[in-house]
Amino acid sequence: MPTPRKLVVGAAPEGARDPDSAARAVRHMFTSIAPRYDLLNHVLSFNVDRRWWRRTARSFAEILAQPDCRVLDLCCGTGDMTFALRKQAGNSRPQVLGADFSRAMLQRARRKLLDKVWQNGKSAMPLWIEADALCLPFPSQHFNLVTSAFGFRNLADYDAGLREIARVLRPGGECGILDFGEPRGVVGHLYRLYFKQVLPRVGTVLSGVRGPYAYLPNSVACFPEPTEMLARMRHAGFREANWTPYTFGIAGLYRGKK
Ligand SMILES: C[S@@+](CC[C@H](N)C(=O)[O-])C[C@H]1O[C@@H](n2cnc3c(N)ncnc32)[C@H](O)[C@@H]1O
Repeated sequence: MPTPRKLVVGAAPEGARDPDSAARAVRHMFTSIAPRYDLLNHVLSFNVDRRWWRRTARSFAEILAQPDCRVLDLCCGTGDMTFALRKQAGNSRPQVLGADFSRAMLQRARRKLLDKVWQNGKSAMPLWIEADALCLPFPSQHFNLVTSAFGFRNLADYDAGLREIARVLRPGGECGILDFGEPRGVVGHLYRLYFKQVLPRVGTVLSGVRGPYAYLPNSVACFPEPTEMLARMRHAGFREANWTPYTFGIAGLYRGKK
């Protein structure tokens, strides 16, 4: 009889025994790589990450064009997805918030914001808030759009994360989760070789920190497949749940409507 697949609850960095210790380990990991996070992201993804953020922001163009639109970018890290959303919104000036539980990552986002304010003026720039995605300090039915880029996979409890997103969304509001996937076929084979053998070594050397870049491929391998993730989204109350692969499925966007 085949062994039943273990039900994935959420991210489980090495040594974590429960959701609380997993969350602490994840926060510690991102805090430790914050100073070099952007450089590593761009180098290790060959700059494709920028295209993925832009494409995600573009796919929410309609909602971002609504006047008085409220947007939350969860697990915003150093803010690149948040800035892409703000840029896509153009003159419609939504209220865009970036939330993350690592202060060090948010400090980088704030520094980038200062550069952008300097170049483009202050109008409707994103605001940053230190918050845990599993326990958000916002009232229910507050946002028109909630996104998360490469952050959701790190949550200690995926279903709790989806429930919290659904809670803060207005009825009719949309959720967009951009995260890594595991492509199949020849591309998948090459990708796994790069992701499991090359990336952890280069990441460790460039960041000067052992651990986070070994965790990355493991966290992707443990993340639910699209069919399972979509089922979880439906279970959390999202309708029209769908997944669009980006770059042969190396990444992909999950969307759903409350
Ligand atoms: C891989 S980074 C992604 C950052 C950014 N969104 C991007 O696309 O570059 C993941 C981020 O998720 C944050 N994170 C993980 N779990 C979180 C949680 N429970 N609450 C808030 N932030 C969390 C980490 O601190 C980290 O900054």
